[in-house]
Amino acid sequence: MIKEIENLLNDQVRYEANASMHYLAMASWADVNGYNGVSEFFYANSEEERVHMTKLVKFINERGGNAIIPALDAPKTDFKSLNDLFEDFLSSEVYVTEKINGVIFECLNHKDYNTHNFMQWYVSEQLEEEAQARTMLDKLNIIGDDKTGHYMFDRDIMTFAKASEGKV
Ligand code: FEO
Repeated sequence: MIKEIENLLNDQVRYEANASMHYLAMASWADVNGYNGVSEFFYANSEEERVHMTKLVKFINERGGNAIIPALDAPKTDFKSLNDLFEDFLSSEVYVTEKINGVIFECLNHKDYNTHNFMQWYVSEQLEEEAQARTMLDKLNIIGDDKTGHYMFDRDIMTFAKASEGKV
C-alpha cells in the first residue's frame, strides 16, 4: 500500500474513533438530561462510527499496511442545549467529510483506484449523515425554546435511532 495513502487512512481511523467517543459523550449528556430519544440516537451513532473505524483498520491491514490504533482526544462533555448538541454533530460530520474528500483526492493523485473504490462507501455515509444532522438542526431551530417542542423532538428522534441501529 502507498505510504502516503496508508498514513491518510490511519488519520481517518483516528477521526472516526474520535467521532465515536464524541457521540458517546453526547449520548451520555442526553441520557443524564432526560432526552432518552436523543440519547439512543447518539448511542447508535457512536456505534456506527466505531464500525467506520473498524472497517478502515481491517482494510489497511488486508492491503499490506499497518493499522495504528490511536490515542484519542478527550471529547466535549458539557452542552448548553439540544441546539448546541446538534450543531456539534453537524460540524463533526462536515469535518469528517472534508477529511474523506482529502483521502479521495490523494487516491486519484496516486492512481490508487482500489482505495478510491473502498472510500466511496464513506462518501455515501457522509452524505446521509450530514443531511440527517442538517434536518434535525432545522427542526430544532423551528422549535426554539419551546419545551413541548423539545419533548416531541426527543420522542420523534427515536425513529432515527432505531433506523441507525438496523445499519450496524
Ligand atoms: Fe464516520 Fe460520520 O463519520
